[in-house]
Amino acid sequence: MRPTTAVERAERAMATGGSPTLEFQAEVPYDAYVHTEVLHNLQQPLSDDPGEMSFLMITQVMELYFKLVTFELRNARAALRDDEVGAALAPLRRTALHLEGLNGSWRGLRWMTPSDFNRFRDQLGEASGLQSSMYRHLEFLLGLKSVALLRPFRRQPKVHRELMRSFESSSVWDETIALLARRGHDVPLELLERDFSLEHEPHPAVEKAWVEVYRDDSTTNELRMLGEALTEVAEQFGDWRYQHVAAVRRSMGAKPGSGGSNGLAWLERSMARVVFPELWSARTHM
Ligand code: HEM
Repeated sequence: MRPTTAVERAERAMATGGSPTLEFQAEVPYDAYVHTEVLHNLQQPLSDDPGEMSFLMITQVMELYFKLVTFELRNARAALRDDEVGAALAPLRRTALHLEGLNGSWRGLRWMTPSDFNRFRDQLGEASGLQSSMYRHLEFLLGLKSVALLRPFRRQPKVHRELMRSFESSSVWDETIALLARRGHDVPLELLERDFSLEHEPHPAVEKAWVEVYRDDSTTNELRMLGEALTEVAEQFGDWRYQHVAAVRRSMGAKPGSGGSNGLAWLERSMARVVFPELWSARTHM
């Protein structure tokens, strides 16, 4: 693809009297950039039921969002690691906005009653969102760590290796806690030099640090801005989980899941794990 400049674009619009370009030497540049050919060949429903297309495509849209959110969170984590709070705020804000977009996608499944779902459900076999590796990357970045959920990928070495790297790396929350320590808050060493593959246990020192951060409500308090950006991310992610459970309840009640779990009960337990826990508990003491 050949880049263009603002001058070229202005000259072209002038030459055509404002009409769009309609002649190209090869494929249209839009297709070259977006890879529409690949994208539109990815929908392969397993049944003839017209409802399955919504289920499949909304799942694909959500997978793409998981990837985008993971990308943003990795950038935010790198900025926090470099002590650049200002630089972390933009990807965190984008994360929250993408999560809002992701959450909007649930609307496309609201039509699905149990009998609608049953029309194609058997064809899905054992396939379940539980086996989404991108969702697992996302959870690991948010600090939700569970070693058991790596197991399904043992026979996919590349996916497993990448997941293991995410699993063993610090989360956005770990880097936030390290930043609080560098900014003078009293954080015990055991939280800074811990095994990152273990899920972070809420700690009173981190809670106290946030109470102190929020005490200064001046507009220049960047740690407070960071706290609010993270709160928005946690809340939007919580909305995804809540809406997923609501969709499950609506379309299959308390039946067992395709992925082998007991369905709603398993999901409710999974949902009980809190993202950025001290950011919430600290609010009681403000
Ligand atoms: C109404 C449609 C849906 C139903 C009935 C449903 C059902 C379930 C069930 C029962 C589980 C528990 C695991 C198991 O399968 O045994 C699960 C997990 C999961 N599903 Fe769905 N699901 C639906 C839509 C989606 C969509 C569109 C996505 C998007 C990718 C998705 C992603 C996930 C993820 C990521 C998990 C694991 C959650 C966790 O680890 O806490 N699900 N789903």
